[in-house]
Amino acid sequence: MAHAPIHLSPPDMSARERRALLDAFDSNWIAPAGPALNEFEARLRSVSGTEAAVAVTSGTAALHLALRVLGIGPGDIVLVPTVTFVASANVVRYVGAVPHFVDCDPRTGNVDPAQLERAILNLDAVGYRPAAVMTVDLYGACANYSEIERTCRRFDIPIIEDAAEAIGATHLGRPAGSFGKLAAFSFNGNKLVTTGGGGALVGQADLIERARYLSSQARDSALHFEHSELGYAYRLSNISAAIGCSQLERLDRLVARTRAIHRRYVDELSHIEGLDVISQDRDGRGNGWLTVVQIDRDRFAAPASICGRLSDEGIEARPSWKPMHQQPLYLGSPVTGGHAANTHFDQGLCLPSGSALTEAEQTRVIETFTRALGVQPTIELSSLDLRVAQLLPRQDNRVPMS
Ligand SMILES: Cc1ncc(COP(=O)(O)O)c(C=O)c1O
Repeated sequence: MAHAPIHLSPPDMSARERRALLDAFDSNWIAPAGPALNEFEARLRSVSGTEAAVAVTSGTAALHLALRVLGIGPGDIVLVPTVTFVASANVVRYVGAVPHFVDCDPRTGNVDPAQLERAILNLDAVGYRPAAVMTVDLYGACANYSEIERTCRRFDIPIIEDAAEAIGATHLGRPAGSFGKLAAFSFNGNKLVTTGGGGALVGQADLIERARYLSSQARDSALHFEHSELGYAYRLSNISAAIGCSQLERLDRLVARTRAIHRRYVDELSHIEGLDVISQDRDGRGNGWLTVVQIDRDRFAAPASICGRLSDEGIEARPSWKPMHQQPLYLGSPVTGGHAANTHFDQGLCLPSGSALTEAEQTRVIETFTRALGVQPTIELSSLDLRVAQLLPRQDNRVPMS
């Protein structure tokens, strides 16, 4: 019998979310106002330990609002980790500012605090001060804030935390979302907490009030429609927020499950020579959103090739984020460092990590993945022990690049 496909990080819905959605529908609060929206924002304040929250249509919208609220625009530079999803950089362009990319810590993929400081010092030497530092809590693990906050305080640069992937994670006991002056969450369909599509900006109350105003077409207070500033249609619907409330009620359980999945990958894969499972628990406690393995390219095939093998077996895996400074869109953009990020991309592969992944499915992923690692071009090694496969000469042990 054919196996059901295994996705990277699919939504994990329960009867609770379904009931909340139908209740919101039946109440006729379906537009971007209503009790579920208020409750969702209150829950987000509490999860992130922040003063205020505004729920919006996407994480990208939240980041865009953060930059607008901080008054960042043409002529400004924003430091952005080069290893991230493109939205972190795009929003800088939306406001007419320039993203300056910063290399990653080779052990985690998260921004390297030393490279960040180097970027600031180099810019300082030529008379520039970045308008903000955007941090990204990569794959669900917080960036190294102990060092980043110290540096940003020293140079008086505000942090915008892109916590799109990290709801429920912590760093030194503080929750994701609490590190920047403003922080963005994503509730896109592939995130640990999803509203089908959505996001939120959290942080300082006065700044969030301004973001709320901009997110509702910047409507001034008057009976008629009065507008003195450029705004956006970014507010989340009450229906989506109702799903979000139920997801947040289950947050502890969702995180416990993804952390257990991560732990099992660490336990069962890290002994393989030439393979490194990026720990989510190095600088804090990640939420386990995605487990990423780094594959020694002298021993194994390229991540894209291995993803292809997994895909043939109905398992979705992905190469890790391609660095922004390598993206056609951002070629020629300023970057500090970049070698660690290049290696991260060359070696990184994300394994299925969704909270709904069953033990049996994870067993199938681990078996198929280790088999794919040991496969060589012409001889099917599936019947051989992986350790034997690893003894094969280097060239014979590689799957050709697709
Ligand atoms: C790091 C990062 N930033 C920003 C976003 C944008 O979020 P959204 O897709 O909700 O716009 C995502 C995810 O999609 C992300 O992973």
